[in-house]
This record gives sequence, C-alpha cells and structure tokens, in this order.
Amino acid sequence: MSDWIEISTPSLRGKECEYLKECINTNYVSSIGPFINDFENLVAENIGLPKHSTAATSCGTTALQLGLLALGVKPNDLVIVPTYTFIATANAVSHIGASPWILGSEMDHLTIDSDELEKELEINTFTKNGFTFHKETNQRIACIIPVYVFGYPPDIDPIKKIASKFSIPILLDSACGIGAKYKGSKIGQSDLPGIISFNGNKTITTGAGGIFYSNDEIFVNRVKHLSSTAKSSSKYEHNEVGYNYRMSNIQAALGLAQLEQLEQIIDEKKMIHNNYKQSLNNYNQFKLIRNPSWGESSHWLNAILINKDTPKKIENLIQKLRDFKIRSNYFWKPLHLQKPYKKSLKSNLYELNDIQERVLVLPSSPTLKIEEQEKIIDILNQFFK
Ligand SMILES: Cc1ncc(COP(=O)(O)O)c(C=O)c1O
Repeated sequence: MSDWIEISTPSLRGKECEYLKECINTNYVSSIGPFINDFENLVAENIGLPKHSTAATSCGTTALQLGLLALGVKPNDLVIVPTYTFIATANAVSHIGASPWILGSEMDHLTIDSDELEKELEINTFTKNGFTFHKETNQRIACIIPVYVFGYPPDIDPIKKIASKFSIPILLDSACGIGAKYKGSKIGQSDLPGIISFNGNKTITTGAGGIFYSNDEIFVNRVKHLSSTAKSSSKYEHNEVGYNYRMSNIQAALGLAQLEQLEQIIDEKKMIHNNYKQSLNNYNQFKLIRNPSWGESSHWLNAILINKDTPKKIENLIQKLRDFKIRSNYFWKPLHLQKPYKKSLKSNLYELNDIQERVLVLPSSPTLKIEEQEKIIDILNQFFK
C-alpha cells in the first residue's frame, strides 16, 4: 500500500472478500446472480425508495445514458448541463446523439445556477405542442441534468419549478450524492429520477458501477431492458438495439459489502468535513465549500475555493502538499473549455473560465487519520499566512 495520503481511496473493511468468494464458489460471476437484486434493493432502501426502484449498470455514465433514453431524449435534442461537472455528464448526452447546452454554476457550491437557468430558458426558447425549443437552433430541449458537486445537492425545488414551467424532464446526476440530503430528504425522495456512480473514488464502490433510480417503475424497467441487450425472450430475441450495460454479480457483491458500511463511512466523512470546517474558517484568501442552506452534502470530497484576486497559486500549494506525500489536486475543468465541447451552445460563462485554477480538493478518505488531517491543515496555514 502507498504511504501517500490520498484524496479518496476505497474503504474495504467489511464482507467484501466473503461475498466475492461466494461469486466464485457459486459460479455467478456475470450479469446474472443474486447479489445484483440484493444490491439494487439495498441501494433503493438507502436512498429512500421502495424495492424495484433501481437498475444497476456497468458505471455511472451508462446509467446516465440509459436514463436519458428512458426519459425520451432523442438524437439531435438539447440537454441542459452545468459547465462545472465531470465530463461524463456531457458525454452521456453525446453518446445518444444529443447535444449539451452548457449553463453556469453558482459560486457558493458550484451547482447549477437556477436563476440563470430560468433566464436562459425565458430568453432563448419558444414552446410548441407542449415542448420547448431553442430559438437559434430549433432543437428540442429534452432534459435538464443538475449535478451534485463534491456531494453538495443542487437547489432542487426552484429547478423543478422552472422545469415544470417549460415542460422539461429532469435527470439528477447524483454520481457523488449517495448520503446527501435535500431539505432533509434522501436523494431518491426528490420525486426525480437520477443516477449514482460507484467508481473506485466514490463514497462506496463496486470497482466500476452505477445505479439508475426512479420512483416510476416504467423508467426503471426501461433501463433494465436496455442495459440487458433489449432481450425479449429466452430464445435470443431482442426487440430493439440494446446495450450490454448491466452490472455484474461480482461488482454487486462488492457493492453489497460496501453498502453495509455506508452509514459508518458517511459518519467518518462528516467528521473529516467538520474538522476542516473548524480549522479552516479564518481565511480571507479562500473558503472551504460548506453545506448550502437547502441541504447537506454526502461529504464525498472536501474542497476549497480560492479568491480570484489571491496571488497564491494553486499549483504551488499542490506541490507543497506533495512534498509531504499528501495528494491534493486540480479538480474538474469546466465543460465549456473541454475540447469536445468548446463549440457547444452555451451561456456567458466568462466568470467560470478560471475555476479550475481556484478549486483544490483535499484528502477526504473515510480512513484519514486525525494526525494526517492536522498535517494537511498546518500546511494550508503556512501557505496562506
Ligand atoms: C458528476 C459525475 N457524473 C458522472 C460520473 C460518471 O460515473 P462513472 O465514472 O461511474 O461512469 C462521475 C464520475 O466520476 C461524476 O463525478
């Protein structure tokens, strides 16, 4: 094992080995097996939904792609995405032949800016036959994807109101959101469909894996059908072009063992956040991103946002931490500056052009020791003094 203090490592302290051995011993290693249903049902329970509200997929990106298809997004449609997200959000849109319409993010938690969303829709769209279209391109606006950033929930109620006014469905990219709350409710209780990622760097992991969730069984069954090559009978018949995106029993076995520790991991992460919060509250050159008034983060990652006019350079801080074998890193480069999306339709995102130079993510693994965290805080103190 590395002696570095990492940003976010998996915490495999439960029955992972036992369940994986069971897969080998029973020969259930592929996309059929008892762990898959158990995993789906336990995720549903953890996010506040009944059984059969979830569909397990090969990763979060494929869950997004199939979720968009289930919601009726078609090639050439536009899907609204915030610029501050992991590129997978936009890639899932591109994978089905639709295009992202990239909008801005508010500067407190970097989630989608609902005021701007409303303004852009008011100014740049028209409605016809119950659908909303972009004035310039005549493309239908088929979905809005609000993103949980570092684990912080977007402000869902105003987004819902705007989406309903313009008759646009919402798909939550809560890839990093398991454990987060919006106005006291778990992520599945917002009455909106969404996805979760179980990649190795997430709060809990299946190695690679994802979940689509919805309280509408029609959407869930559609995702299950599409993810299993659209099989329509046991005689190798398929009623449409499907995908091989189902989660395997091995991934689900790992995931089930992880889910059994979810509460403990979230408590540990909350404690880490509270320690950072207590120690990093006296600075005018940067701020630690904290819970919004409307909810609570999953505390997947802790991040600081450095002021625009601060002369200190993030690269120097990264290097200083590296000197002590502490990993910190640049985080997401906004979509509108990424090569595949530079020409996408977008709002005025000038304010966010330098966001990657201003955000630093700090070690947030649940196993981070208090003395390691004190060391990190000391280095930040010295750097910003
Ligand atoms: C915001 C966001 N969306 C989507 C994804 C994609 O998930 P996956 O890596 O499981 O495909 C990620 C993963 O890091 C993410 O952070």
